[in-house]
Amino acid sequence: MESVIEFRNVTKRYPLYHHIGSGIKELIFNPRRALSLLSGRSYLAIEDISFEIQKGESVALIGRNGAGKSTSLGLVAGVMKPTSGTVKVIGRVASMLELGGGFHPELTGRENIRLNAILLGLRRKELKNRLDRIIEFSELKEFIDEPIRVYSSGMLAKLGFSVISQVDPDILIIDEVLAVGDIAFQRKCMETINDFKKKGVTILFVSHNLADVKNICDRVIWIEDHKLREIGESSSVIASYKEAMA
Ligand SMILES: Nc1ncnc2c1ncn2[C@@H]1O[C@H](COP(=O)(O)OP(=O)(O)OP(=O)(O)O)[C@@H](O)[C@H]1O
Ligand SMILES: [Mg+2]
Repeated sequence: MESVIEFRNVTKRYPLYHHIGSGIKELIFNPRRALSLLSGRSYLAIEDISFEIQKGESVALIGRNGAGKSTSLGLVAGVMKPTSGTVKVIGRVASMLELGGGFHPELTGRENIRLNAILLGLRRKELKNRLDRIIEFSELKEFIDEPIRVYSSGMLAKLGFSVISQVDPDILIIDEVLAVGDIAFQRKCMETINDFKKKGVTILFVSHNLADVKNICDRVIWIEDHKLREIGESSSVIASYKEAMA
């Protein structure tokens, strides 16, 4: 077996100056955070997390809000660096991390598709061949030449996943975002993710929908309080998570 994602003692802290944008508001509504900001402290997102994922495995990250799931995905996607420890990722990654992430509000749906498909590694010729299929998948035909600032959140999710559905990644990373799509679209996405799985794509998946997690994933990583609480076969980790939440 070949491990394609490897976290070794990974810790990520966000420097608190990231919050300075909210300025006075932050000081009024979140004085404790504003004060630690002035004292130059940082905010812990994940602490000393280690695991390995093998090629072709489907793995979910579960845990409460703020546990550190999206941060872990961001580290795999390479949009940020760990504060300490090492993150190893082998292969081409396609990710859907946040709504409209990587999209430009003033560009149309079609233009955003082009932009993202190229960023995800499609060649121009491949894009030309697949553009119709992407638009078809998105179910956004009537809106495809409108700027995406007029899109609803469900429509943005559709646009984002439609591009993903037609690229050829080695590793697929999906954060929550699909939950804003209607149920018919969610079902279509789950089928697409399963097709990727059958093709041997490694999948890293975050969802609060444990039925989806059970459906798609072989293993689950439960993150609690920024640390790895349990890792193992899906149904057993889900069972302990449910018990702890009850
Ligand atoms: N840009 C940031 N600056 C400072 N702190 C952040 C930032 N992003 C996340 N955090 C903090 O890091 C911790 C982990 O956040 P993360 O987004 O990874 O959680 P999550 O498990 O994805 O939660 P959710 O289920 O709500 O999506 C949280 O406590 C959060 O407040
Ligand atoms: Mg998250």
